[in-house]
Amino acid sequence: MRTIAHISDLHFGREDPEIVAALREDLKETAPDLVAVSGDLTQRARRREFASARDFLQSLGAPGLAVPGNHDIPLYDLARRFLQPLDRYHRYIHADDNPFYVDAELAVLGLNTSRRTELRGDGRISTPQIEVLRQRFGALPAGLARVLVTHHPFVPAPSGPAQNLVRRGLEGLQAAEIAGVDVVLTGHLHRGFAGDVRTHHVTIKRSILVFQAGTAVSTRLRGEPNSYNLIVFDPPHLACTIHAWEGQRFQPLPPTRFLKTDHEWRREA
Ligand SMILES: [Fe+2]
Ligand SMILES: [Fe+2]
Repeated sequence: MRTIAHISDLHFGREDPEIVAALREDLKETAPDLVAVSGDLTQRARRREFASARDFLQSLGAPGLAVPGNHDIPLYDLARRFLQPLDRYHRYIHADDNPFYVDAELAVLGLNTSRRTELRGDGRISTPQIEVLRQRFGALPAGLARVLVTHHPFVPAPSGPAQNLVRRGLEGLQAAEIAGVDVVLTGHLHRGFAGDVRTHHVTIKRSILVFQAGTAVSTRLRGEPNSYNLIVFDPPHLACTIHAWEGQRFQPLPPTRFLKTDHEWRREA
């Protein structure tokens, strides 16, 4: 059994200190095996924002894996944006843009979808990254749960427009389908939900679950409270619980449960 805390869109620089402290406490209680951060750790990629994000992640006492979001590339400092877009991210958070975690039950690959040339903050997957996905997951034994982490989403929110989606996402998902990816974890929308990529990408035939995380601790809310996802892998079962801020603490909502039979994830009642 493995547990991933999926947190996203921390936006240090626009964080609420009370919610930061409460999230730290909640994560100490839930004690995940891995904290996966799906981007936007900072608001404007400033040094002090990255330092706060790093200090927060280090204080959790759990292994971490992060990918950068569009906010982790400087926006107004154009020289830095184009010449050293991820220099501070590399120094404070991760040296690797496409980090990989693997243990006896779980493999997690992060892919950086943020690009300095996308001034509106959109994202994309590159051909070399699709090759990384193939190689990383393709070399693993069959029984491991496979998880992909990106900042930009592959599917829209259930009630939202199909915008802000990662470019070349379908090509990424086609490779993920062949490589046996079970779950995709994404951020950027500041909304939390659970679904299946096939609701939007009808040519994908094998179920790949998608868990979208809300903004964990920032004041940049989009119609729902701060939240994060706690995902429990207990083969052949999987459960995703959204922990939502209710004014004093993070409160678990009713979990969404899935059962895997014949390579197919089915939602349980
Ligand atoms: Fe964000
Ligand atoms: Fe974003």
